[in-house]
Amino acid sequence: MTVHIGAKPGDIAETVLMPGDPYRAKWAAETFLDKPKLINDVRGMLGFTGTWNGHPVTIHGSGMGMPSLSIYVNELIRDFGAKTLIRIGSCGGMQDDVKVRDVILAMTASSISTPSLGFFREVNFAPTADWSLLSAAFKAAEKRGTPTHVGGIYSSDVFYDERPDLNEQMTRHGVLAVEMEAAELYTLAARYGCRALAVLTVSDHLRTGEALPSDDRERSFGDMVEIALEAAFSNT
Ligand code: HPA
Repeated sequence: MTVHIGAKPGDIAETVLMPGDPYRAKWAAETFLDKPKLINDVRGMLGFTGTWNGHPVTIHGSGMGMPSLSIYVNELIRDFGAKTLIRIGSCGGMQDDVKVRDVILAMTASSISTPSLGFFREVNFAPTADWSLLSAAFKAAEKRGTPTHVGGIYSSDVFYDERPDLNEQMTRHGVLAVEMEAAELYTLAARYGCRALAVLTVSDHLRTGEALPSDDRERSFGDMVEIALEAAFSNT
């Protein structure tokens, strides 16, 4: 039991999938895991552990933004022994060839700041996905025929962004999409020698203003969960 996770030792699997929304964690656990068991509900941040194809898996909410994700990921790794952490979430498309519903596998995550900025000082650390997870997720997405892009994303601290010029620079530099968590997830995984990846669905588009209709969200979200699970347990 930690400050923010009321689970008992052994309640949390080495593989953890992390949607931002705790109710998405509940839905994904009930839909994809066998015998999902609620292992945390402190502050309404739900976490479930069950099995997928016989492998133990935890699906735990991260909350929105890097400070929230950082709390859960620190505790999951340091106190509960998580080793493979995969964010499953939504993002805003930033390139014309990135369409709503497409999947983005984030190779790197740029940011203005992460909760780690304070101690990195002059170092501009490059948060990077784990290669074994990234390549396995790409293969899983290809096999399913899901339109998928692999490249850099932007982890922003703001959803209601007052700096359209920054988004333009990101687009100009080939950044595929914006979300709010991956840079800190990758930084913490690097610090603790864990594997991390962000598998994202494009839910809206910054350039076209298009947004995923709400009845489509569940199906697209399910694709992401399956890609993440296949990647986590791929031996290639
Ligand atoms: N900005 C930040 N995070 C997001 C967005 C966005 O436009 N869409 C989905 N997650």
